[in-house]
Amino acid sequence: TAGTPLPSRDNAALAALAPWPDPQANKYTRGKLSLVAGAAAYPGAACLAGAAAERAGAGYTEVFCAGESLLAVRSFRPSLVARDWREWHPARQEARCADRTGACVIGCGFDGDARQRELVAETVRAATGPVLIDGGAIGLMADKAGQRLARERAERGVGPLVLTPHGGEAARLARGAELEGALGGPELAVGLARAYRALIVLKGPITFIADAEGIVETMGRGTAALAKAGTGDVLAGIIGALLAQGLAPRDAAALGCALHAEAGRAAAQELTEICVSAEDVIAALPQAVRAIV
Ligand code: APR
Ligand code: MG
Repeated sequence: TAGTPLPSRDNAALAALAPWPDPQANKYTRGKLSLVAGAAAYPGAACLAGAAAERAGAGYTEVFCAGESLLAVRSFRPSLVARDWREWHPARQEARCADRTGACVIGCGFDGDARQRELVAETVRAATGPVLIDGGAIGLMADKAGQRLARERAERGVGPLVLTPHGGEAARLARGAELEGALGGPELAVGLARAYRALIVLKGPITFIADAEGIVETMGRGTAALAKAGTGDVLAGIIGALLAQGLAPRDAAALGCALHAEAGRAAAQELTEICVSAEDVIAALPQAVRAIV
């Protein structure tokens, strides 16, 4: 209601969520992230999201991308396992790691072709772990068919759906669900959470995190240094890694946004707000971990 401050956790509360590896950890117990990203024209999105996921602690990050993007991903970061997205079969993938935690991120660097629409539909239908939908995949969910996919998924009671739209993508989701126009940020986030049965991370200078019950978190500690292409892919990788490590969606989103904002600030301190690029935000993640956790 008006006048009630929106929730925002402090560092102590966020620190308690940090997924420190236990001494017996192996790469699979630390969380396996399947990242379906990187159309032929946008290999960089897959590179950035994948590298950010590794930095955010995922034990095993597998990138499923367009054939044309494979070389870019492999040379950007050899520790990423890159496969052609024709090999992406969510059910088969999960059967192979049934005893492991895991999550899927889909849509960074998608440009919305028919093949990608099928990848999104199959993932929402068949992946049983948490699924984060970002970038071009958001547009592919922004209609009645997407809403139906999300509703059927919610009714199956499998892993949660997380959507990370920027303002433009959120407007598209709103049109697709025929939500009334001109909702403010928090109301829009809650409306989308209800319409798409998902946790919504509505990004901007202030980021609103909402579920069907209301706003669960606001994040306003970023910097305009983050207003540069690629930083959204970095955020998707970070939150995906935290989901893969077993954090609940609202915790993964809150800690992920805080680490992203803090890394942006740390990078800007060193490089200026003008010069920071998405790669620098990834490189500054260790400083963000030290500052918050
Ligand atoms: N202050 C603080 N944080 C900001 C600011 C700001 N002024 N501007 C942007 N950010 C943060 C957002 O909160 C978000 O976390 O930077 C991130 C930007 O994410 P996106 O908007 O998803 O950007 P990205 O996907 O990296 O690049 C642009 O969006 O419109 C599409 O096709 C376009 O692929 C392109 C992409
Ligand atoms: Mg984006």
